[in-house]
Amino acid sequence: MGGSDSSSPRQLVRDKISQHQTRKIQTAIAERLLTKAITHVESKGPEFLRATTPAVRPYVEVYRKLGFKPLRRDFRISWQIEDVPHTGDSRLETEEVLDETMDSASSLFVRALSPYWDWRTEEEGGNATVAESFKEDRSRGARRILASLNKESVGLVGIIPDFYEPGVAWFRGAFVLPEHRGKGIGSALMSEISKFAKILGQRKMVVYTFSYLDSLAPGAVLYLKSGGKIEAEYLQLARM
Ligand SMILES: CC(C)(COP(=O)(O)OP(=O)(O)OC[C@H]1O[C@@H](n2cnc3c(N)ncnc32)[C@H](O)[C@@H]1OP(=O)(O)O)[C@@H](O)C(=O)NCCC(=O)NCCS
Repeated sequence: MGGSDSSSPRQLVRDKISQHQTRKIQTAIAERLLTKAITHVESKGPEFLRATTPAVRPYVEVYRKLGFKPLRRDFRISWQIEDVPHTGDSRLETEEVLDETMDSASSLFVRALSPYWDWRTEEEGGNATVAESFKEDRSRGARRILASLNKESVGLVGIIPDFYEPGVAWFRGAFVLPEHRGKGIGSALMSEISKFAKILGQRKMVVYTFSYLDSLAPGAVLYLKSGGKIEAEYLQLARM
């Protein structure tokens, strides 16, 4: 009665000890692998060394032990398309970005990254490289919507449909020019892209976006307020 071997106190202690030993072994393996990787990468003379790891043990500890310092948090956020609220803005005009509007869309994109993504623009090699990679996204199947207010382009939003699996899109971000932020345009873009995604046969969208160590970035705030849920958390680190 109730005295099976697996639930005896002695067995529980043995299980705890073996879990502890397994964790120690995992940490040692992670540390060895990471040391090897760092030695290899540093032999190439990099300008900087940055890593992103799941924000769980033992990874974070191992990176810290090898001289990495946390910089930012990254979240994987996902939406069920049906859950995105329809907070339209009747003043906004929207159109899909096509070849003829690609240049103006890419320059809006570069301006709308500032200031939150300046660190990333710098890492990618500057505005021109970022503008080029925006255009290249088209060849990966990106579909973008450009929003205008009184004939002036003010924001952008996009997805790559069926990126992860049929019906699951990679959300490529919502972007609003700095001078037009805080007026509900971001929320209206979320509503527009969810309608567009549904037309394209998508049921879910997924994004990876960053936040600060001590607070959420505006993008994460917008996404969570528009029905997104955090699926996973990662830590960005840099070796000093
Ligand atoms: C994120 C971004 C698109 C938001 O656009 P926006 O037009 O200012 O957003 P909205 O005015 O619709 O605000 C949406 C909600 O987010 C909140 N929010 C927006 N910016 C915020 C900020 N800086 N701090 C705190 N909350 C903020 C608003 O309060 C609002 O919540 P509410 O509906 O409860 O009032 C804009 O800040 C931006 O372009 N940032 C740079 C690009 C970027 O980081 N995009 C995400 C890339 S993955």
